[in-house]
Formats: sequence, structure tokens, C-alpha cells
Amino acid sequence: MTDHRIALIPGDGIGVEVLPPATAVLDRVGARHGLTFTYDEFDWSCERYLNEGAMMPDDGLDRIRHHDAILLGAVGWPGVPDHISLWGLLIPIRRQFDQYVNLRPIKVMPGVPSPLRAAVPGLEFVVVRENVEGEYSEVGGRFRRGFPDEMAVQESVFTRPGVNRILDYAFELATTRRGVLTSATKSNGIVHTMPFWDELVAEAGERHPSVSWHQEHIDALVAKIVLDPARYDVIVGSNLFGDILSDLAAAVAGSIGIAPAGNLNPERTYPSMFEPVHGSAPDIAGRGVANPLGAIWSAAMMLDHLGHPEAAAEVVAAMADVLGNTPVRTADLGGTADTATFTRTLLDRL
Ligand code: NAD
Ligand code: IPM
Ligand code: MN
Repeated sequence: MTDHRIALIPGDGIGVEVLPPATAVLDRVGARHGLTFTYDEFDWSCERYLNEGAMMPDDGLDRIRHHDAILLGAVGWPGVPDHISLWGLLIPIRRQFDQYVNLRPIKVMPGVPSPLRAAVPGLEFVVVRENVEGEYSEVGGRFRRGFPDEMAVQESVFTRPGVNRILDYAFELATTRRGVLTSATKSNGIVHTMPFWDELVAEAGERHPSVSWHQEHIDALVAKIVLDPARYDVIVGSNLFGDILSDLAAAVAGSIGIAPAGNLNPERTYPSMFEPVHGSAPDIAGRGVANPLGAIWSAAMMLDHLGHPEAAAEVVAAMADVLGNTPVRTADLGGTADTATFTRTLLDRL
């Protein structure tokens, strides 16, 4: 028996609804693979912020530092400004635990029509998002607030080590897949950081001669993904470009409710965090109708990260089985099943 200690942070909105299905799946598949999971649940959320003035306690990060992994639902709720909730919980975890890789695979599942004519069943690609620097920075300042010519300035930060390590991760990943890589850039418009990014991509290309790579401007790239998604396999992008690309990719696969993410600290100095790409979905929260697949697939990525690729593959196969061979699906995929019914069906098939 191997036991893994997992920090659970359900967070807000449908985050609270999609984590129980994920842990139920972990327990079920774990039983067949000699794995048990000990969950420590943390109530860090907007509700906590409103009651106690902080999203998490001062020593919050110390409390989860020694867990094997973190499973998070979603953060953010109307009434608490997003920059307060996210910079009070999600972003500090990514940064303090140096989770500089945000790995976001997409796959057009059987039985789930892509809205794109050009997307064939089985189509898959992966967005590798830089996760701790770039456009998400605290550098810069606000000037002249309260005057007619007020303005806000925020600087993007791209460091050679920070860019090199995400590029090396993406190029290495490409060598294990189709050997092709696309870099998202905007060096025609963003005159300082993006030409530097391109230069480092070219150097990374020389370090990984077996990978055939090219770069595309982010505006043209998103259009081409819509028109011809099968061209792509590994797409690497900065923090903001990767964020936008991953919701687009999720929509290509039929619903943002399916898409998973792994916030990885590849050196394993700190725990990695797994979470669906979607947010707290206030428009459907509390009704028990959220699609739990994004959280379940994220839990499968966690299994893989913890060294259990067969168990992870069984979860993904069960997802494909339910979607491909039964009519059971949640409303975002055109079905009528609620979260609990869908989860029961998946557990039965596992
Ligand atoms: P969202 O992902 O919460 O919702 C976008 C749309 O997708 C909504 O119509 C929602 O109903 C639908 N949707 C999302 N997940 C779904 C699921 N599992 N099943 C069915 N439908 C689903 O994005 P938003 O509306 O921009 O953000 C809402 C809040 O969540 C904000 O506070 C935002 O900052 C936060 N957010 C948090 C994270 C995170 O914690 N990682 C990610 C994105 C957004
Ligand atoms: C995501 C989210 C977050 C991000 C927000 C909520 C800060 O959109 O995980 O994709 O931009 O990273
Ligand atoms: Mn996002």
C-alpha cells in the first residue's frame, strides 16, 4: 500500500462541487492499484475572506508545503474583487511553490462534438504555459489616480532563466510526442519582451535539434487553431498568452468544463497543484450541475505526477468510455445529468 497525503482546497462556487467527484474517483481507482489517499481539507475561500479578512491564514503555505500534491477546485466569487481573491490564494501557491509549468492538455473526447468543423475526434494538443512570471507581475505602479489623465502601469518580467526553463520543459515534452512545437509570440507589437522570448526560443531550438519548431503571433495563432487545430501539438506561451490559449483549447474540445491543469514544480522541491482550467462559475454554482470532468482529469494528472501512470490512464479511459458509450453527460455537453449522476456513472465504469 502506498499512501499519498493530498491538500484539498475546494475554494469557491463549483470548486466545492467538483472536488468530491475527483476524490471519489481517486479512491476508486486507487483501491485497484494499492493506493490510498489521505485528504487534508482547507476552507480557504472568498467566504473565509469575508469572515476573517484573508483568503488563507498567514502560515497557509507552510501548512501545505509537505503534502504530496495539492488539488484545488476554483477561486473567486462576486463581492470579493478577483485580484484580491486570486492574489490571496491561487497565485501565491503557484509562485511560492515555484510551479513554473502550467500543463494544460486538451483532447476531443469520443461523443463530445467540438464546435469546430476541422476538429476530428481524438484530436489532442497541449498548452505549456509559463506560470510564475511574464505579464502576471507585481512590478510597476499606479500614477496620478483621481485625475482626468490618470493611468496605470504594470511591467512584464521575462528573465533568461525563467524563460529557458519553461522552453526546455516544452521542447523536452515535444520530443516525447510528435516532435513539433509552436511558440506563441507577439514580437511585432510588444517590442521588448517578445523579441527576447523569440531569441530564447531559437536558442532552445538549437538545444533540442530533433524538434521541429516555429513561432506564430498570438493573434494569428488563435485564428489558425480555430481553422485547423490538427496542425498543433505542443504550444508554448507566456503566462497571459498561455492563459488565453488554454480556454480556447478547452472550447475546441467542447467545453471548458472538461479541461485539466497541472501546475508543476518539476524539481519537486515543492508540491505541485492540480486544478480544472475553469473558474468558480457563479452562474451555475449551487445547483449541482457542474461538469466534474475538469477536476477528475486534473486528479488523473496528479496520479501521473505521483508515479501512477496506469491508474491515471484508467481514469482517462473511463472518461472516454462514459462520453463515448453512454448518453450520460452534464448540461455544458448538451446532456441532462447532474454532477452526482454523472459521477456515479463514471465510478460504475471504472
Ligand atoms: P468560469 O470558468 O468560472 O466560467 C465561464 C463559463 O463556463 C460560465 O458560463 C460557466 O458556467 C461555464 N463553466 C465553467 N466551468 C464549468 C463546469 N465545470 N461545468 C459547466 N460549465 C462550466 O470563468 P469566469 O466566469 O471568468 O470566472 C468566474 C470566477 O472564477 C471569477 O472570480 C474568476 O476570477 C474565477 N476563476 C478562477 C479560476 C481558478 O481558480 N483557477 C480560473 C478561472 C476563473
Ligand atoms: C486560470 C485562471 C487564473 C489565471 C486567474 C483566475 C488568475 O484564469 O487558472 O487560468 O489567469 O491564471
Ligand atoms: Mn484562465
